[in-house]
Amino acid sequence: MLTMDRGTLQRLDDIRGKIARISDIPEAKLLRDKVSGIQRVLSTQRAGLRAQNEAAQLKILIERKLGKMLTERPKHPGAKGTGSNQYRKVPSRSGEVPKNLEELGIHRAEAHRWMMIASIPEAYFEEELERIRATDQEITSVHFYREAQHIKNHATKRKPLNVTEPVYTSYRSDNGELIARVASIYFPQKKGLRIADVTYGKGVFLKNLDLSKHELFASDIVTGKKFPGVKAYDFKKLPYENNFFDVMFFDPPYHHVGKRPRMREREFRNVHTTGGYSHKDILALYRDGMKEGFRVLKKKGVLLVKTMDEIESGKQYFTHIEIFQIAQSLGFVGEDLFILTQVVDPPVYQKRQLHAQKNHSLLWVFRKK
Ligand SMILES: C[S@@+](CC[C@H](N)C(=O)[O-])C[C@H]1O[C@@H](n2cnc3c(N)ncnc32)[C@H](O)[C@@H]1O
Repeated sequence: MLTMDRGTLQRLDDIRGKIARISDIPEAKLLRDKVSGIQRVLSTQRAGLRAQNEAAQLKILIERKLGKMLTERPKHPGAKGTGSNQYRKVPSRSGEVPKNLEELGIHRAEAHRWMMIASIPEAYFEEELERIRATDQEITSVHFYREAQHIKNHATKRKPLNVTEPVYTSYRSDNGELIARVASIYFPQKKGLRIADVTYGKGVFLKNLDLSKHELFASDIVTGKKFPGVKAYDFKKLPYENNFFDVMFFDPPYHHVGKRPRMREREFRNVHTTGGYSHKDILALYRDGMKEGFRVLKKKGVLLVKTMDEIESGKQYFTHIEIFQIAQSLGFVGEDLFILTQVVDPPVYQKRQLHAQKNHSLLWVFRKK
């Protein structure tokens, strides 16, 4: 239920109706400030999350508009890159001198934040709003600003690792480094491999690989809407032809999940993709993805499957063994199994432990027969 008085609801509705027709920056700024004022009133009235989110969503939509208009507007003559300087006013082609930020009543930091928020791809932005609402979290500009930063930084974070030492079966490290070591065995000096990462996530698996000599096909049902170059494909139904890839990475959500968000939801979107899944459902998901992997991989192609064993309702499930059985039934052979121990041990909450706390995940290397 929305705890908001009629007057406020009406004011928000009026503003909502005006958003599509906003034609200039001052008008947008005025509307944004009005919503900000309403947010402050709602906060003092302790109006509740849903009411706050109604206003916050409107504010962010206007900030996106503002960001877009600021990005596209002709630069003020004093601005960097205009070939002018701040002391000499140079009119635009129409003869009008565009207002600077100060004249528009906009702080530089605000302008930067709105332009960043405006840079988030539309499909991802919409889905993210929906996800936040559905999981009863707070809609904030700061969250979307961080998402925008994340999208911007993502492509620049690659750092290939030149592996010269022998490769071992276990490491205390991170996924990127492990994958680089594994790759040094399974696709070493070859060129022109077709490589699929069908659970791309944030691209951590690939961050230490030099893929410049290969062809990468990255996809992820959630982050495909976020990162340029990554497709939003469902790994259960990939749009590739049979026998197409040399290598495929497969790292689906590997835990049974409740319906409410828990730790690292922002990172992995488990509630979003597998909310309410039991261990059995997770295994079925693995089977579907690995079956599709078998179809799209060439003969002798390599499938890398990441997993973690888990305990559900006090019962131990050795998921990696179940995955091995699935792989065999599909026609893969097990080439290698790697153990990755977490760099920081996870906390143990139970007073009396019934099972050891898991601090490792596993990476299977399968080959299509
Ligand atoms: C554990 S994360 C993968 C992390 C990734 N390996 C990385 O390096 O960042 C699991 C990913 O699987 C994606 N996913 C879940 N179900 C999917 C589906 N049916 N099709 C495609 N991607 C899916 C999620 O969106 C999430 O990004």
